[in-house]
Amino acid sequence: MVEKTRAARDSFWWGAATASYQIEGSPLADGSGSCIWHEFSHTPGNTYRGDTGDHAADHYHRWAEDVALMRVLGLNAYRFSIRWPRILPEGQGEVNQAGLDFYDRLLDALLEARIEPFVTLFHWDLPAALQHRGGWCNRDSAQWFAEYTEVVAARLGDRIRWWITLNEPFVVATEGHLLGHHAPGVRNAFAAARAVHNQLRAHIAADQVLRSTSPAAKVGLALHNAWVEPASDSEADILASRVAHAWHNFPLFLDPLVFGRYPAEVEDLLLSHLPQGYEADLDAMRCPPDFAGLNYYFSYMVRRDEDSWTGFAPLEEEGGPRTSMGWPIRPEGLGRLLDAAHRRYGLDCLLVTENGAAFEDALEEDAVHDPERVSYLEAHIQEVLKAAQSGLPVKGYFVWSFLDNFEWARGYSQRFGLVYVDYETQRRILKDSGWWYSAFVREQLEEAFTKMRAFGS
Ligand code: GCO
Repeated sequence: MVEKTRAARDSFWWGAATASYQIEGSPLADGSGSCIWHEFSHTPGNTYRGDTGDHAADHYHRWAEDVALMRVLGLNAYRFSIRWPRILPEGQGEVNQAGLDFYDRLLDALLEARIEPFVTLFHWDLPAALQHRGGWCNRDSAQWFAEYTEVVAARLGDRIRWWITLNEPFVVATEGHLLGHHAPGVRNAFAAARAVHNQLRAHIAADQVLRSTSPAAKVGLALHNAWVEPASDSEADILASRVAHAWHNFPLFLDPLVFGRYPAEVEDLLLSHLPQGYEADLDAMRCPPDFAGLNYYFSYMVRRDEDSWTGFAPLEEEGGPRTSMGWPIRPEGLGRLLDAAHRRYGLDCLLVTENGAAFEDALEEDAVHDPERVSYLEAHIQEVLKAAQSGLPVKGYFVWSFLDNFEWARGYSQRFGLVYVDYETQRRILKDSGWWYSAFVREQLEEAFTKMRAFGS
């Protein structure tokens, strides 16, 4: 019976996701080194109201309470990230044991609560010391990342089965190195191209480390996606939508890993900005992941735009439901995205590693009524269930986010959590959407158990 219970629990991962810099606070505590988001947010003008991750949701001190809350929610999975400079304050070299101890305790608490950890090694908080040596523009970044992975796997790998090496490397490359809206605040197309290429090399180097140290490990990435449709049936708009898809969605990183080449649609955009000799790296690029982690929030229409660097631009559409981020609410795009990823690669496992929405949440005594978020989650989960029922290998769904947190350059102005955080007191209050998701997950897992018991499998 125990095996059946475990098999039912593991039949589908119903989780929530967070990231170290967005929830932990205490950026320099107990020997932790600085990261690029600490420097970027402490540089005037870079974030909303000058918000920083100095306190965030104080998860660094409240992790036990937060795991207890996940247990109340009935999650069977939790996606979180490890902060590189907590482990290696200078990015390389001397290990900070206190940093490893923090994640060691968190992992034990999750496993004790029978919550499967899905661990992201890099969710944007690159050690500042490495940025000062060129960061992702330095080819050595792949080796730096491999060394970091080795230290983490040696101490924590016995309890981690699911490894996400990088989170949204596209956003790191573009927001961080092309547009300068995110850390490290660079505005240079050649830097952005190197950041794409060297993050890919870093993923491959980490994959090799993990497969040698943890043979049972499942290794993948969490990729940025916004489903795109052409603004018209003109050839120019259809081509523009294909370029947009290849550039900011899963093909930019999964094509090299599965096919050993970048998508043809982005050759003009990317390859002309890569350093001499990049082709030699492609021969070693084929490294199919065990799963594709797909982050999805919204869809939009794309039109040809000759004045744009990318050759395409979003069609400005009026009306329709939007989140407080201004993102259109289009659940059907998630189903199309999952289908497109499956058709292109045929991987054994697809995970929705982020999906969620920010709304203007208001605390009313001890409750937060967020019906829009309940509707958003319900509609997107229906797309996931439809995809799984149609035979796609979708095996997990993670709400972004477990807690309200630091939304990068938008600071604390946006609330994505299933759990409301009162930043004045750090009190946690489960929102109506959290209670809804909790009831939904319990129902799904009970149904899985009943099926397994019925079929004796
Ligand atoms: C991302 C990041 C998250 C964001 C979330 C809302 O996908 O951009 O992984 O850290 O906070 O997506 O923007």
